[in-house]
Amino acid sequence: MGFTMGLNLLLLVAMVATNILSLYHLSTTMISTKPTTPLNPPVPDHLLRQLQTIRATINHLTRLQPNPSLHNNPSTAAAIIPSDLLLYTQLSPIASACRHHPDLLHQYMNYTPFTLCPPPSSAAAEPLILRGCHPLPRRRCFSPTPNKLPTSLPTNPFSPVPENSILWSNYKCKNLDCLNPDLGFDLKKEKSKFLSYKTDLDLPISQLTEIAKKSKSVLRLALDIGGGTGTFAAQMKQENVTVLTTTMSLSAPYNEVAALRGLVPLHAPLQQRLPVFDGVLDLVRCGHAVNRWIPVAAMEFLLYDVDRVLRGGGYFWVDHFFSKEVDLDKIYGPLIGKLGYKKVKWAVGKKMDSSGVKNGEVYLTALLQKPVSR
Ligand SMILES: *[C@@H]1O[C@H](CO)[C@@H](O)[C@H](O)[C@H]1NC(C)=O
Repeated sequence: MGFTMGLNLLLLVAMVATNILSLYHLSTTMISTKPTTPLNPPVPDHLLRQLQTIRATINHLTRLQPNPSLHNNPSTAAAIIPSDLLLYTQLSPIASACRHHPDLLHQYMNYTPFTLCPPPSSAAAEPLILRGCHPLPRRRCFSPTPNKLPTSLPTNPFSPVPENSILWSNYKCKNLDCLNPDLGFDLKKEKSKFLSYKTDLDLPISQLTEIAKKSKSVLRLALDIGGGTGTFAAQMKQENVTVLTTTMSLSAPYNEVAALRGLVPLHAPLQQRLPVFDGVLDLVRCGHAVNRWIPVAAMEFLLYDVDRVLRGGGYFWVDHFFSKEVDLDKIYGPLIGKLGYKKVKWAVGKKMDSSGVKNGEVYLTALLQKPVSR
């Protein structure tokens, strides 16, 4: 009860603070902007967002009230807040979007501290992360250990990974054969990726390294966004280039397999700020996980974040980005153009699978070089 009171107070303070902040923003906006027509007064985006946060906080507070008359749906688990969640809110921030999914959050934090985390241990985190609940609160439980532990450094990232080193309780499939081999789990098949040139949409690694060498641009460190089981990192390892791979689980053990291959998986969703510092990378690649399904505004932030982490002279490789043909001309082309990068390669080709033909989609493969000085 004391915890609940404390939390309510904390949220109340946060709410009041947000309100004051909004008022402050509103007043500064009113001072700094020239008066526009009274019929259409502009509402700044940040104010709208803050108002949403305030509303969410109020909703959350109302849900937490012990008074049963305030519950719209008394059967939800939202009323019982796990004690570790309450404690954590006082230690460290939790992403504001977590508040929109209290049921999932409570489910995730519903465990007995200092014991084994309840199964499926890591799968519970991802639905929250994908809904923008990032950072997730930490938990104080032990993650379970798979049957077989790695015994040596894999010298070849294309040799088979030990199946029983994966905690299958997180997934519907219970072995590698059950997974669709096109998703990157058939390592024999992966071995030939990024090496050959079949159409203009391909950029074999030999060509990439040649281009970099010619412009005296060294490739040491790279990031592969949405890189699945890490095959690009695996191929670049042969070139002595270190590649970090952001990858989610999405009901298959992408992170685990990348790690078993001796590659670094970063469990980061597409909407998250890239977890590396400014200007430290020589190359960023996006595979077709980055495509027209991402809202344009989110794409724009992603592109500028790529620019942030790339050093001057570094490369941005857009690999098989797909969109409708008209959108590539009208939206995505100009969006990428805003970066002001040199177009080393720009290839567009029709997407010939059934959904591509139906929707008039095209692929874009582009290699872009960041200006050396800005
Ligand atoms: C990678 O490094 C190893 C060990 O230093 C070296 O023998 C090999 O030639 C290098 N490979 C490339 C492609 O630079």
